[in-house]
Amino acid sequence: MGSANKPTPIPTQEEDLPNPTVALLSFSTDASSNPPRKATATTVLFISLILITCVALSAAVAFAFLFFSSPTSKPYSNESNQTFESIVQVARPLTKLNHSVVLLISSDGFRFGYQFKTSTPNIGRLIDNGTEAERGLIPVFPTLTFPNHYSIVTGLYPAYHGIINNHFVDPYTGESFTMGSHEPKWWLGEPLWETIANHGLKAATYFWPGSEVNKGSWTCPVNYCRNYNGSVPFEERVDTVLQYFDLPSSEIPVFMTLYFEDPDHQGHQVGPDDPEITEAVARIDGMIGRLIEGLEKRGVFEDVHIIMVGDHGMVGTCDKKLIYLDDLAPWIDIPKDWVHSYSPLLAIRPPADFSPSDVVMKMNEGLKSGKFENGKNLKMYLKEELPSRLHYMASDRIPPIIGLVEEGFKVEQKRSNRKECGGAHGYDNDFFSMRTVFIGHGPKFARGQKSFHESEYDARQHGFN
Ligand SMILES: *[C@@H]1O[C@H](CO)[C@@H](O)[C@H](O)[C@H]1NC(C)=O
Ligand SMILES: *[C@@H]1O[C@H](CO)[C@@H](O)[C@H](O)[C@H]1NC(C)=O
Ligand SMILES: *[C@@H]1O[C@H](CO)[C@@H](O)[C@H](O)[C@H]1NC(C)=O
Ligand SMILES: *[C@@H]1O[C@H](CO)[C@@H](O)[C@H](O)[C@H]1NC(C)=O
Ligand SMILES: *[C@@H]1O[C@H](CO)[C@@H](O)[C@H](O)[C@H]1NC(C)=O
Ligand SMILES: [Zn+2]
Repeated sequence: MGSANKPTPIPTQEEDLPNPTVALLSFSTDASSNPPRKATATTVLFISLILITCVALSAAVAFAFLFFSSPTSKPYSNESNQTFESIVQVARPLTKLNHSVVLLISSDGFRFGYQFKTSTPNIGRLIDNGTEAERGLIPVFPTLTFPNHYSIVTGLYPAYHGIINNHFVDPYTGESFTMGSHEPKWWLGEPLWETIANHGLKAATYFWPGSEVNKGSWTCPVNYCRNYNGSVPFEERVDTVLQYFDLPSSEIPVFMTLYFEDPDHQGHQVGPDDPEITEAVARIDGMIGRLIEGLEKRGVFEDVHIIMVGDHGMVGTCDKKLIYLDDLAPWIDIPKDWVHSYSPLLAIRPPADFSPSDVVMKMNEGLKSGKFENGKNLKMYLKEELPSRLHYMASDRIPPIIGLVEEGFKVEQKRSNRKECGGAHGYDNDFFSMRTVFIGHGPKFARGQKSFHESEYDARQHGFN
């Protein structure tokens, strides 16, 4: 197969999804295709929702066919849009591998622009000979690690894939989800490794949120999937991935992930502008170099699709940009146990005998009163009334009341002596500081392509100005 995928035109504006499985990109698939239609749609739409750009398109196209098409088949007929045509024309044949391989790399908290902080010759190589989102990848809201990583592999907004925060409570059972929860019930949608396994193909994950979860034919197999352990040196992760290319051709996984905690780790401690970040970025570049070198030694570098992304950016939180919920007491008491997360995503679930709209009204009254420290930097919403571009409503896991916090501000219950200067993310994905990188390199990515979407620059309302 692979010759019958027909893309439909790409919407230029984000729209509300009428139902959970509707893709921004919808592809009709070959009648002979194995998986249910939804699976393929899920596979291909993933980048498109994070990044509504031409780059998104090329990534989506790569994902659409590279797993399931023979190396030489022409994946799209030319009755489709010109953009697809130009992408198809750049596809180069494989020289050494017998099947396409996608290696998806995440560098956590790699804010867009970090690549200019220091010399990054290896990332630079991927960019120069690959396709880059020239103005960065726009993460999904909330701009947090688990929601974004799982959107990248499922193609769904958090409200639809279920991981609506790094931690949350199931409103029906009262059970808590944490970053260590691996029960399938939390993880909705179909991640790429499951799609691959359902097709009888091999995937390998060296860490990725959700990868330890058994779903469909994916069982997190020994040697092809790791339980998360942040102490494993980055070098060991890279070398393990490289060793997959030493397997007999038919055994080489068609999809692999590789995850690095940096520079997020440093960013939280020191903010985005510290020399420690520069060092961490240089180190990540070194890991990309180690990878490229290993692939070149095996003669497969030009055959492998390397996609390097981050999950979100980072912004400094110094200068006492703090908002205290206890200061709202003259208007309304917000007890600690109503608050499911504070900052930068303020999420509140009041008990059943309180009306959420009443709570929102009273909170906003206080915040706007002019008598509230930093009040104008927090705006409360019923989740249904959030800007629709955030797509943060359609899940009962999302508490009914959400506060949007101005860039760099933090919400806390009460004044404390805590160290308040560092970095954070999780804010509105409209903030440029929340952007991260997207780079694609390989046979099905154009060389030297830089892409962004015009509509990105449409004036938008944050609700702050
Ligand atoms: C595909 O392109 C060729 C040459 O450009 C053209 O002759 C043909 O009609 C096109 N086919 C479709 C279905 O558009
Ligand atoms: C490609 O799609 C865009 C947007 O849908 C449309 O404006 C354009 O005319 C299409 N190009 C071709 C060659 O069909
Ligand atoms: C880019 O690709 C070309 C063609 O394969 C190659 O000659 C060149 O060395 C590559 N450049 C970099 C920076 O890798
Ligand atoms: C995590 O990795 C480190 C370094 O490789 C290792 O020493 C440690 O035993 C691992 N922990 C677990 C729980 O596997
Ligand atoms: C790749 O495929 C070709 C043709 O099917 C076959 O002859 C060759 O042995 C394969 N290479 C490996 C390393 O399996
Ligand atoms: Zn992260």
